Amino acid sequence: MKSIAIFFFFLGSSLGARLPRYTLSESIIGYDFLEAFDFQAITDPTHGRVNYLSRSDALSKNLVKTSRNSFIMRADYTTILSPDGPGRDSVRIISKKTYNATVMIFEMRHMPEGCGTWPAIRTKQASPPNTGIIDILEGVNNQRFDQVTLHTSGGCTVPPERSETGIAISNNCDVGCSVGLYNSSSFGPSFNSDGGGWYAMERTADHVKVWFWKRKDHFIPVDVLHSGPLVNPLQWGTPAAYFPNTSCDMEEFLTAHNILINLTLCGDWAGSTDVYAASGCPSTCVDHANNDPTSFRNALFDFAAIRIYTPM
Ligand SMILES: *[C@@H]1O[C@H](CO)[C@@H](O)[C@H](O)[C@H]1NC(C)=O
Ligand SMILES: *[C@@H]1O[C@H](CO)[C@@H](O)[C@H](O)[C@H]1NC(C)=O
Ligand SMILES: *[C@@H]1O[C@H](CO)[C@@H](O)[C@H](O)[C@H]1NC(C)=O
Ligand SMILES: *[C@@H]1O[C@H](CO)[C@@H](O)[C@H](O)[C@H]1NC(C)=O
Repeated sequence: MKSIAIFFFFLGSSLGARLPRYTLSESIIGYDFLEAFDFQAITDPTHGRVNYLSRSDALSKNLVKTSRNSFIMRADYTTILSPDGPGRDSVRIISKKTYNATVMIFEMRHMPEGCGTWPAIRTKQASPPNTGIIDILEGVNNQRFDQVTLHTSGGCTVPPERSETGIAISNNCDVGCSVGLYNSSSFGPSFNSDGGGWYAMERTADHVKVWFWKRKDHFIPVDVLHSGPLVNPLQWGTPAAYFPNTSCDMEEFLTAHNILINLTLCGDWAGSTDVYAASGCPSTCVDHANNDPTSFRNALFDFAAIRIYTPM
């Protein structure tokens, strides 16, 4: 009796925070990606200079390669394009399953880099109005840092002061509340030269949090590093990006989401005249995408795993 009382005393105090909160429900590794995701050969809604391939075309053109422990998806890097033809071949995949409250961990060895590239890993509302989006990994043109963004519709803001290591860029989630993970090797060439790393996203009824650890980080939580069967985000330290529900009803704005991974080129962000010019990249984005295939040699994702954990 006494020991049970002591147990619950600890549960309610510091030990409680140390108990695992989530259990592994899905582990997507290597060939599993081909089962877990659909390929979307659609016109890029952000007007990219890109031609998304079906699963069979992506496999036959070697833009998707799977092995026991790796899933690679990339843009074409051998073809000079006709300016009148479709854009550069690339890949866009969406999970068959949808998810609500979860922890998702994306372990990558490499992410797309290069002038004109605009890669993204996001979760997106599966049903209309499709406005709820959590951009976990996103950026353009070899920028050095990731930009995490929560998109809702009108009526969701986040407080300017909150506990996160990234720097808030905007706090109105109707237009996208973004956090820059400055200085963290969290994107593009610096991410890749450090051997990649882990992005983790926790979504609950009262917050969204995103963490990033590069492979050479001094602190990587053991449950993340060793792909544990249980994880406890309360032990992961201050997140890189934190969106609390203080003035945003997460349950209203974030319903069931698909995971969406895509690699577009140029388009509304990467190819906008100001952004592209400021990036130090050559020529115009579209000419570069058409005429310089070899510069897309490193425009590839190499996933070690995606792990999904559900609340216990
Ligand atoms: C593909 O990725 C870009 C970059 O993140 C994004 O803006 C765009 O909306 C994505 N496409 C779709 C259909 O979601
Ligand atoms: C970014 O990192 C560099 C080198 O590690 C350091 O000198 C600089 O102070 C950092 N800047 C910020 C804003 O943290
Ligand atoms: C925030 O989340 C908590 C826990 O789910 C809930 O009780 C509270 O009502 C939410 N606040 C808002 C403003 O939605
Ligand atoms: C997610 O929540 C919605 C309600 O918002 C529910 O209809 C759906 O079944 C849930 N999906 C999963 C995978 O839990």
